[in-house]
Amino acid sequence: MSEQTLFKVTVDGITIEVPAGTTILQAARQIGGEVAPPAMCYYSKLKGSGGKCRTCLVEVSKGSEKDPRPMPKLVASCRTTVMDGMEVKNITSDKVIDARAGVVEFLLLNHPLDCPICDQAGECHLQDLSFDHGKSKTRFEFQKRTFKKHDLGKNIQLHMTRCILCYRCVFTADQLTNKRVHGILDRGDHAEIATHIEKSLDNEFIGNVIDVCPVGALTDKTFRFKNRVWFLKPMDAHRDCPTCSGRVTLWNRGDEVFRVTARKDEWGEIEDTPDGKPGWICNTCRFDKKEASDWVIEGPREISRASVISQGHYAGKIGTTKPTETFLAVNGGRAPHLLMDIHDESEVNKPTIHLGKIQGPSHGDTFENKTESA
Ligand code: SF4
Ligand code: FES
Repeated sequence: MSEQTLFKVTVDGITIEVPAGTTILQAARQIGGEVAPPAMCYYSKLKGSGGKCRTCLVEVSKGSEKDPRPMPKLVASCRTTVMDGMEVKNITSDKVIDARAGVVEFLLLNHPLDCPICDQAGECHLQDLSFDHGKSKTRFEFQKRTFKKHDLGKNIQLHMTRCILCYRCVFTADQLTNKRVHGILDRGDHAEIATHIEKSLDNEFIGNVIDVCPVGALTDKTFRFKNRVWFLKPMDAHRDCPTCSGRVTLWNRGDEVFRVTARKDEWGEIEDTPDGKPGWICNTCRFDKKEASDWVIEGPREISRASVISQGHYAGKIGTTKPTETFLAVNGGRAPHLLMDIHDESEVNKPTIHLGKIQGPSHGDTFENKTESA
């Protein structure tokens, strides 16, 4: 077996050795943390992705050992492979920080600032990027683009105004399904994700476009407006699925399963299964298995401490089992002074209503006996 050629690369002063052919982004991810540039369009599990958004720009201050000249312009780290002896600056470069602020400003020109009502809030890569590199004001004086609504079928909602044209969903459909029926139509300011002749996305693996979308342009209709992700408890679970790996994250509140997603790694990408294949999940697991009894629960999903989702997240074993003690037992035999049943006072969140199973968003009517779930 031939020996793999290893190249030395230094990113922000940290040197590692990586196999020839590794991109700067992948090398930086091996170092991890802040050193890894953000990526809005690159997705390691999708062939051909990257090179569209420019959020991953870095400065190459030394080209290689043989040719130490710096590269004249900032380069897209997701598309540039390392050379032996290369030196790269990411967060240590003022030029990069400045360019990234410019990229965020461009991405937000047409992106609506509707985070308070967007289902992606709390897990949106653009929200994180704006928090780190965005400005508090806009210089844009024109009207943002708006689009005619296209229906993408019964389970996937497209909100084109939020799309940043990263092409990830197009690559997903190309690479996971046998016939892609959506894509990017038109060019320039008019470019949009659409199905052209109102087709619905209904391939058994098409639900994965929701997981790869870095913003709230593609969302799960069975979950929209039902809850905020930071109120839910992500739990790893699996089932014996004949179609996919069946390894998922359940987003629960109590025993109620609000949503099912594939498992994601620290870069927000689909995690590999133990046999090394990407853990894409099928539509049946994602949209139809909304009972806790459909799943074997493995335990709480590890969530980055920096994420808003980690607020109120189960830690260790706490919260994964129901407490057996009564209030009197833990309160030293004393009855509580203030213990009322919220449902005596208000109809909000009636216990008879199973929000995870309501078709479409939940709103006021849901609690007025009109949509009692089975
Ligand atoms: S819908 Fe989402 S995944 Fe598809 S191109 Fe737009 S931002 Fe990217
Ligand atoms: S992640 Fe590199 S250009 Fe988008």
